Amino acid sequence: MKYLFLNHKMNLDKREIEIYNKEFSKLVWNNIEVCIFPTFTNMSYLDSTKYNIGSQNVSRFQAGSYTGEVSAHQLKSVGVTYALVGHSERRHILNESEEEILEKIKRLQEEDIIPVLCIGETKGEDREETLKRQLSSAFQTEIKDMMIAYEPVYSIGTGLVLENDEIESSIQFIKEYVKKEYNRDIPVLYGGSVDEKNIAILKGIENIDGFLIGKASLTVEKVKKIMEELK
Ligand code: PGA
Repeated sequence: MKYLFLNHKMNLDKREIEIYNKEFSKLVWNNIEVCIFPTFTNMSYLDSTKYNIGSQNVSRFQAGSYTGEVSAHQLKSVGVTYALVGHSERRHILNESEEEILEKIKRLQEEDIIPVLCIGETKGEDREETLKRQLSSAFQTEIKDMMIAYEPVYSIGTGLVLENDEIESSIQFIKEYVKKEYNRDIPVLYGGSVDEKNIAILKGIENIDGFLIGKASLTVEKVKKIMEELK
C-alpha cells in the first residue's frame, strides 16, 4: 500500500481550505505518498512541501483561446504532479468522451504530469468489458507513467463498498490486462466510499497500491484515522 490520494471535488471555499491546510500540516505519515486534489481555486492555499498537489481535471487543448480551461502546462507551472482523468463524474455528468480523455492523457504526458486514469463499471454493466474498453482507449497513445483508479460508479459517494475479494479480482484483471496487452506494470488504486471506518478491512486487499478517497478526505480528522490504519 503506497498511495493515498484525496479528491476534494468541488468542495471547500477559501476560508475552509485555509483551515484544512493548517490542520493537515500537523499530520504525520511514513512510507505513503499523499496527494491532495483540490479545486483549482484552492491550489495556492495548500502547502505542498509535505505532499503532492494534484489536479482534478485538465484541458484537452495545449494553450490559447479556450475560455474556462486550464492547461497541463499551467498545472505544471504551479507544481502539479498528478492529475485525475476520466473520473466517473466527468464521464457521466459532464459527458466526457473516451476521445477527450485520450487527448487529456496526451497533454499531461507532454508536461510529465502523471495521469491517474479513473475507470469502472456502472450498475449492470459488464465489469471486464467496461474495464477493457476504457483501458484500451487510453492506451491508444504511448503511455509513459500512469496510474489507474478502479472505482465502480455505483460505489462513489453511496456508502456501498465491494467485498475485498471482488476488488482484488478486479485489480488483478486490470493489472493482468495491462501487462498482457501493453507489457506494463501499473499501480492500481481503489476508490468509492472509502472512509475511516472501512479502511481497516479494505487495507487487507492483497494486490492494492493505494486508495482514492472523496468525501472522507474533506475532514482532516478522518484522513488522520485513515493514515493511522495504513501505518
Ligand atoms: P467517494 O469518492 O470517496 O466520496 O465515494 C471517491 C471518488 O470519487 O474518487
